[in-house]
Amino acid sequence: MSAFETVIGRGGVVLFPSDTVYGLACDPASQVAIEHLYALKGRPPDKAAAIMFFDLEAALYALPELGPNTRRALSALMPGAVTALLPNPARRFALSARADPQTLGLRVVSVPALVGVQVPVLQSSANLSGGADARRLSEVAPAIRAGADLVIDGGELPGVASTVVDLRDYEQEGVWSVRRLGAVDEDELARRLGGRFRFEPGTYAAMVTDTLPGYAELQGQVALAAGQGVQRILELGIGTGETAARLLEQNPRAQITGVDESPAMLAAAAARLGERLVAAHAGLLQEPLPEGRFDLVVSALAVHHLEADEKALLFSRVRERLAPDGRFVLGDVVVPQSPDAAVVELTDGYDKPSSVAEQLEWLRAAGFEARVSWTLRDLAVLVARPL
Ligand SMILES: C[S@@+](CC[C@H](N)C(=O)[O-])C[C@H]1O[C@@H](n2cnc3c(N)ncnc32)[C@H](O)[C@@H]1O
Repeated sequence: MSAFETVIGRGGVVLFPSDTVYGLACDPASQVAIEHLYALKGRPPDKAAAIMFFDLEAALYALPELGPNTRRALSALMPGAVTALLPNPARRFALSARADPQTLGLRVVSVPALVGVQVPVLQSSANLSGGADARRLSEVAPAIRAGADLVIDGGELPGVASTVVDLRDYEQEGVWSVRRLGAVDEDELARRLGGRFRFEPGTYAAMVTDTLPGYAELQGQVALAAGQGVQRILELGIGTGETAARLLEQNPRAQITGVDESPAMLAAAAARLGERLVAAHAGLLQEPLPEGRFDLVVSALAVHHLEADEKALLFSRVRERLAPDGRFVLGDVVVPQSPDAAVVELTDGYDKPSSVAEQLEWLRAAGFEARVSWTLRDLAVLVARPL
């Protein structure tokens, strides 16, 4: 048995090199050891910690309730710099879960210094709570180094924490989302996972700023094209309410109905918009739209997730929901005339932009008079009015 396993088995805390940053590990079944680990880094007791395995087979064996899709996903991601949030109906490793015993955070790493370790550990990064991650042993706070029962030096590590990916709806629905951006980016996750990516409110702003140059300008141009004096607004793909907040500000008497496939994004929009979000529909834009007549139907950066025929059908449905003097404003990623103008980072299978010309044609076929109000490289705003 390695020194690592011996110290963990005795209820000690080990300072060790993971595949990302330095971490602290202890026996996940020992309340005393966990309290020692939390105390060393000043981690609030209500915060959950992930369980780490050093061998994928051992992890899958320890979690027999996981379904085949989730097992395949874990095999595609791990070992690697990813923490997976998994359903935990059997409440395994209950001491790690804290407030949410139905969720388990899982890491599986491949670390040269710890090859062959079979025991799982409860782990957390080796920094004072809220402090910077340690890339070298010398960057770990002296009090943590002194308080650990075993210190393993793994030299210099990559230094970027793991990406936290939520797989709790993956088994049944095939959807996943990113809860914390880290060492593995969204495109890499998409390549390995397949299934359907879902936006997550906590990481949305950072992700959109990273991948979508021109986001702020697009929002401004959508608001400009939407105009003032409207009362009933329907937003398709409302997300965290970024677009909606602007529209409500410039239309003080307006109320908004939002549609989004992600209940978490809708909840963020509801918290932000309050009572002015009069209805929030969790559903797909490929499905029938909420009932009602609207002065403005608006969508920013959501319709490009639909296939070409789905977009054309959506435009007909939008036409049916618009008041005769209403307007439809569509701000989105498009296929630019020159391929060199494409700068938005797209994810295969999730982002499916069409050209401006195609979308104008579908809008006209749906009974609109349509024009372009703004373009910037591969972004455009189209405005359509019922004929
Ligand atoms: C890039 S965000 C845009 C959000 C907001 N309009 C903004 O500009 O910040 C796209 C939103 O559309 C939602 N979405 C993507 N595909 C969808 C679909 N097929 N049906 C419904 N909502 C979808 C996502 O969940 C996400 O909230």
